[in-house]
Amino acid sequence: MSRASTGKANLAARARRIDADATLKEIISRGLLDKSRKVLERDGCVEIPILEPIFGWDIVRQEEPLFYRGSPDLAKSLAEELPPQCIDLLPRGWYIQGDIIVVKIHPDLAPYQSCIGQALLNYYPRCKTVLRDLGIEGQLREPKREAIAGTNTKTVHKENAVLFELDATKVMFSAGNLRERMRMSRFGKGEFVVDMFAGIGYFTLQMAVHSRPRKILSIELNPVAFEFLCKNILLNHVEDIVEPIHGDCAKVTPQGVADRVVMGMVQVTDRYLQTGISALRPGGVLHYHQTIPTKSFPDAAVQDVTNAALALGRKAEILQCIRVKKYSPGVVHAVIDARIDKSN
Ligand SMILES: C[S@@+](CC[C@H](N)C(=O)[O-])C[C@H]1O[C@@H](n2cnc3c(N)ncnc32)[C@H](O)[C@@H]1O
Repeated sequence: MSRASTGKANLAARARRIDADATLKEIISRGLLDKSRKVLERDGCVEIPILEPIFGWDIVRQEEPLFYRGSPDLAKSLAEELPPQCIDLLPRGWYIQGDIIVVKIHPDLAPYQSCIGQALLNYYPRCKTVLRDLGIEGQLREPKREAIAGTNTKTVHKENAVLFELDATKVMFSAGNLRERMRMSRFGKGEFVVDMFAGIGYFTLQMAVHSRPRKILSIELNPVAFEFLCKNILLNHVEDIVEPIHGDCAKVTPQGVADRVVMGMVQVTDRYLQTGISALRPGGVLHYHQTIPTKSFPDAAVQDVTNAALALGRKAEILQCIRVKKYSPGVVHAVIDARIDKSN
């Protein structure tokens, strides 16, 4: 009996060829890639095998799936090396930045982390290093990561035709924000944009490469992230569009000039809201990111925007409220798009 007829649903997410790379990475980051089947091309689209349906995506049932001979399965690979009680704690998801694998490992598995790293490298021969992810710290969003296999922590990550050079132990790159970066790539044509928390260019470069704004002012406080931002502007040949500024956006954001302001920070973004709103000309659009309790989505973030606009004598028209990702238990990363006008 073929494996296709054993009752498995054999679901796949369909994507246009141009979106396939980014869609695959999103699926891997959610731990939903069915590694037993191959990615296929059908009717001009790419079918990426998944373990369970993803709400709102274009999902198909594959009639003729193609299976790998030996599918990646950490539990199987490490059955001899780990005590049985540890097998269930093995990671089921990880993500790949360039040629680096980033994985969260349960604290009880720390003594086995180098075997886990090596097993992951065996699945991805083009990858050189595996980093254990221990979270992100502070206002400068510095990752805590340690190499558990390989030593090279610098890489160039390609996403949606944009190149990001980075050191994965020094700067963050959020796999969960992929859809938002893709969305941003469609905004800004001909506009003057201010990216107040630019990082290494997550939103700036997607916009600059795909939408060609007139100008993007990209502000970043962390000196290491700023260095990579400057490198990435050159790497993507958008130095005629992007002006990087090393500094605190609370102090260097211009006033009343921007068609669009991106506030891609979480937790403390409300402190900068009046600065972001003041940067906009009447009719300009704000993208306000914030982490809020899931049960108060989107009201808590919408209130932040409307109150800050009101305090400045301006009016906010809410255009869209999006859940970017689950941030932590009971907390969602939200983004609110709002048009900011003069008050009537
Ligand atoms: C969370 S990261 C951006 C993440 C991005 N939204 C993504 O897609 O992954 C936010 C960046 O803002 C920078 N930052 C924090 N406070 C800042 C400030 N006051 N002015 C400018 N940049 C700041 C941090 O150093 C960090 O690089």
